[in-house]
Amino acid sequence: MKFFIDTANVDAIRKAHERGMVDGVTTNPSLVAKEGRNFREIIDEIASFVDGPISLEVVSEDAQGMIEEARELNGWIDNAAIKIPMTWEGLKAVKVLSEEDIHTNVTLCFSANQALLAAKAGASFISPFIGRLDDVGKTGMQLVDEIVQIYMNYGYETEVIVASIRHPMHVLEAAYIGADIATIPPSVLEKMVNHPLTDVGIERFLADWKKAKK
Ligand code: G3P
Repeated sequence: MKFFIDTANVDAIRKAHERGMVDGVTTNPSLVAKEGRNFREIIDEIASFVDGPISLEVVSEDAQGMIEEARELNGWIDNAAIKIPMTWEGLKAVKVLSEEDIHTNVTLCFSANQALLAAKAGASFISPFIGRLDDVGKTGMQLVDEIVQIYMNYGYETEVIVASIRHPMHVLEAAYIGADIATIPPSVLEKMVNHPLTDVGIERFLADWKKAKK
């Protein structure tokens, strides 16, 4: 399973990278705005140490605008995946970009039908937003299950990025289903290592070691 880090905070990405947990990075306009820094500068910095795909999102709403933006963003770094919103205009853009070998990540996916369309258009990645579905009383993870099944039925190569992850159980459930990628916020990654019995165990081993004959 690949882990992407869902943030535009370079320090957080660096920390996760040092821990060997970064196979890629996803950003979006909200995450970039939160940093209060220049978009290009952030992306250049991330690309200086992350080899895997880095998602950068377009903000145009029409296909032509998205295509032009995508070509420009793709020129910034070698490992860009251009995030395109799940609309008809977005799908038109994905089709053109995939023919130009520009990697795309179709974002804001909330149904299996949308994921099917994205795969047909030639998307490299699909991003179902599971936390936001949970927020409105749906079971987000069920969508991941459906998409993984559908892609398997037809051998689509579009990779499933489980996005809008809110807690470690989301990562675990994504892993059970066999999703290709989880894009994990740094705060969730931090929690995944914790277990009280590990802490107690370390304490006990260290205390006993003090009493051991050396
Ligand atoms: O990768 C998509 C993610 O950033 C959205 O997360 O928490 O805003 O729903 P959230």
